[in-house]
Order: sequence, then C-alpha cells, then structure tokens
Amino acid sequence: MATIRIEGLAKRYDGQRVMGPLDLRIEDGEFFTFVGPSGCGKSTLLNLIAGVDAPSAGRIWFDDRDVSALSPGERDIAMVFQSYALYPHLSVRENIGFPLRVRGRPRKEIAHEVDRVARTLGLVDLLERRPRQLSGGQRQRVALGRALVRRPAALLMDEPLSNLDAGLRLEMRAEFKRLHELHGVTTVYVTHDQEEAMVLSDRLAVLDAGSIRQCGSPQRLYDDPDNLFVARFLGSPPINVVRGDALAGPVSLVARRATPAGSELFTVRPAQVTVDVEPRRDALPGTVVLTESTGADLWVIAEVAGQRIRGRAVPGASPERGSTVYLLIDAGAIQRFDEATGARVRIFET
Ligand SMILES: Nc1ncnc2c1ncn2[C@@H]1O[C@H](COP(=O)(O)OP(=O)(O)O)[C@@H](O)[C@H]1O
Ligand SMILES: [Mg+2]
Repeated sequence: MATIRIEGLAKRYDGQRVMGPLDLRIEDGEFFTFVGPSGCGKSTLLNLIAGVDAPSAGRIWFDDRDVSALSPGERDIAMVFQSYALYPHLSVRENIGFPLRVRGRPRKEIAHEVDRVARTLGLVDLLERRPRQLSGGQRQRVALGRALVRRPAALLMDEPLSNLDAGLRLEMRAEFKRLHELHGVTTVYVTHDQEEAMVLSDRLAVLDAGSIRQCGSPQRLYDDPDNLFVARFLGSPPINVVRGDALAGPVSLVARRATPAGSELFTVRPAQVTVDVEPRRDALPGTVVLTESTGADLWVIAEVAGQRIRGRAVPGASPERGSTVYLLIDAGAIQRFDEATGARVRIFET
C-alpha cells in the first residue's frame, strides 16, 4: 500500500493542454475518486498514475519512490476497467491467478491466494466456470479478484460499474466499499456518476476541463462548494441556481450587508426548500411548473419572479400544475457565487 503524490502533472496532445498541471496527495489506504463530466480528463489522469501513458510534465511518487519513469508493471499497481477484459478461454480460477502465474509464483501460493480472494468476493462456487458462464456482476467481481490477488500498492479503477444495469451497480458499489474496508488498499477510482463518487469515497476531486475544481470529503464538497461548478455537479436533484430577485425575502437577509460588487447568483439545495399549498409566514408565492415524484419525495418546480426553483412538497400535498404554492426557504442554506467567475462569495457569511 502506498501514498500517491502528484506534482505539476500535465498532459498535452498535439500542443493542446487536456490536463493539469495538477498537484495532489492521496493518502495510504484512502478511497479517492476523480469525478467529472465526460471528457474532463479522468481516464487521462488515471492512465498517467498507472504509467500506461506518459505525462508532458510533472512527477508521480508512490511513497518515497519516484515512479515517473517506471512502466506499469514496475509501479506495482492493479487496474480494473469498464470492460472487464477477462481471458475467455481461462476459468475463473485461472483468470484470478493469472497475474501470479506470469510472475512465476509457486503453484501452492497461487492456489492459496486465489482461494483467499475468491472467498472475500463470493466466487468460491464459480471458480471452475468460464467468463461466458457468468453474469455481468460476476465478471466484474472476477476482474476485481484478478486485481487484488497480487496485493498491489494501489488499485486503480476506471468507471468499473458503468457497464452494469442499475440494480447491479448499487450492489457492486456496496461490495466495493466493503472490500475496501477489508483490504484497505489505496484506491483511485474514476467515475462520471456523482452519487457513486459521494457514496464510495473518503475524498474526491471534482475535475473540469483537466483542472481540479475542488478536493475534499464528499460532505464538505456538498455542503461547502468553492464554486458553482462543484455546487451544480454534486447532488440530486440538482441545486437551485437563481438571481437574487427570485429569493427577495430570504436573499435580503443573506445579502443585507452586500456591496454592489457586480452580478451574483444564489443557490439553495432543493431539500432546503419546503413547498406548501397553504400560505405561510415568510414564504415566497410561486406557480407550479412541474412536479416529479420519486415515491419517497414529491419535488415541485415552481416559477418565482420568472425563475424556476425546485423544492420538496410538504407531506400529503400534491399541488396541481399552474396552482399557487408557497416556498419556505431556509436563509441560512443560501450560498452566493460570483456570476462572472463562478467563485463562491463568502465574505458575508459568518
Ligand atoms: N490520444 C488522444 N489524443 C488526443 N486527445 C485525447 C487523447 N486521449 C484523450 N484525449 C482528449 O483528452 C480529453 C480527456 O479525455 P479523457 O481523459 O478520456 O476524459 P474522461 O475519461 O474524463 O471522459 C478529452 O478532451 C479527449 O478528447
Ligand atoms: Mg474515461
């Protein structure tokens, strides 16, 4: 297991910068996730850490070892991809044991290690099968077994769940978390799915166009985003972003000491907006545009001063489209951002 340190790491293709320069430290045993939209540079970054790809600038350390010039094999990492890349003609046992076999480990050791991994992954009864006789989730588990059998210094995973259907994805997600707690191997995980990133990670870095927009614990990034990109990227349903005039009452509380510093946007999470069908003190009247039921919650999108705000209906209420509703917004939950830069404006918060 290892600490991973990145310094000034950058990648250019044909002179075009696609990533970095980035500085980052991933702690020993940490589950660390790079999350961001498609094309933001997640795979590029993971491939640089793995040594599959060479950086245009910068260095990478595993503990005190500068691995920048080392091949993937020499870096002692294991990778799991979206496509499981199992050997079709080999059994599950042979697939898992493969990395040890190519390293010429003794037969007995291989058998022992394969059994160990198969037990933790629930694959004991499937060891004699071929990959084509397995479900998608089982195949992914075999790929993980093959990665873990060597006890690598770090486990790198690139969107390993995106080929699975929704139910299985949730099941495997829980499995990854359990396995990480069991093995404690430093894990660098890549996904475009913010919920997956939030649930799995000790810390995550939100990537946008090859730059880290913010890095920290999932709760920290959700509660205290540094910029609009992070605020918008995390959370479902997505955060409300509006101009001050839509939030007249609550915003005047938040912004009462505001200087006219230019155009600002205000955010509030849908869960911090209560939507009632009865008038309430300090509530903003709005008109229902759309309702969305998830079974557990009824989300109401209402138009207030020409802008849309999503909030949660009070229990039992089911407002009709076009009807008037009353939005109760916790002024303390409102955050402010500079519209031009997207940066958080914190000076008025105490
Ligand atoms: N071999 C390559 N040549 C040129 N551009 C590339 C190459 N590989 C990736 N890119 C570009 O680098 C950016 C990041 O790609 P990638 O790391 O695959 O993103 P992600 O994994 O986040 O979807 C994209 O704009 C992509 O088009
Ligand atoms: Mg990718």
